[in-house]
Amino acid sequence: MRLDRFLANAGLGTRTEVKAMIRKGQVKLDGEVCREPQTRLDEKQRSAVSLNDIPVRLKSRIHIMLHKPTSVITAMDDPRQPTIAELIPDRYQAARLFPVGRLDLDTTGLLLLTNDGTLGHRLTSPRWQVGKTYRITFAGPPFMSADIEHFQKGIRLADGTICRPAELEIQGENQVLLTIHEGKFHQVKRMILATGREVKTLHRQSIGPLVLDHQLPPGACRELTAGEADQLYDWVRLDRP
Ligand code: URA
Repeated sequence: MRLDRFLANAGLGTRTEVKAMIRKGQVKLDGEVCREPQTRLDEKQRSAVSLNDIPVRLKSRIHIMLHKPTSVITAMDDPRQPTIAELIPDRYQAARLFPVGRLDLDTTGLLLLTNDGTLGHRLTSPRWQVGKTYRITFAGPPFMSADIEHFQKGIRLADGTICRPAELEIQGENQVLLTIHEGKFHQVKRMILATGREVKTLHRQSIGPLVLDHQLPPGACRELTAGEADQLYDWVRLDRP
């Protein structure tokens, strides 16, 4: 791998930024300043790179919070439609990220990408009961307190499927928060439909302890902080690698 790519993959900046650091002499290889961004590193040399005399380590696990906008599909590759991959900076290309669960084309909000398969599996598996909270606006009659109980008991979908208990919080005439603990196909839209209403907008606010950062506009993303990642791993009883 090239030195500049290695540094960018380690999250130290964009390719342009790390090239500038290299040219300025901030980067050492085996204790010697190296000013050539294109220098090729073999496996062994990767543990001998330092930036400002601090050893650089490639993070093995990367977790990204994305504010998914409408009009991109939850896939890393598609021949026809724009995908979430186009919103992820190039420096993460080698990280083999995948989305944890999916949001529909017209759904906005929190999408987590990771390269930790066990974490991704636990966050989506109904066995681990990780709540996902959605803000919903809908057309139809306002929800009443009796509906809260209805959702708590388990909504029956049009095809007869009974959903697990879900928490409904009424926020206004046409707005609710709904927390579900599983991820069936179009689940929220089908649950709302089963009550005789129609989802107009759907926005995911949180996954377990992870809340979408209000500072992130639609289409923007950032790495999780160490604290956020710790909380997620704790939530599904995993040791953070
Ligand atoms: N449920 C839905 O119906 N759509 C989504 O995008 C997410 C949950």
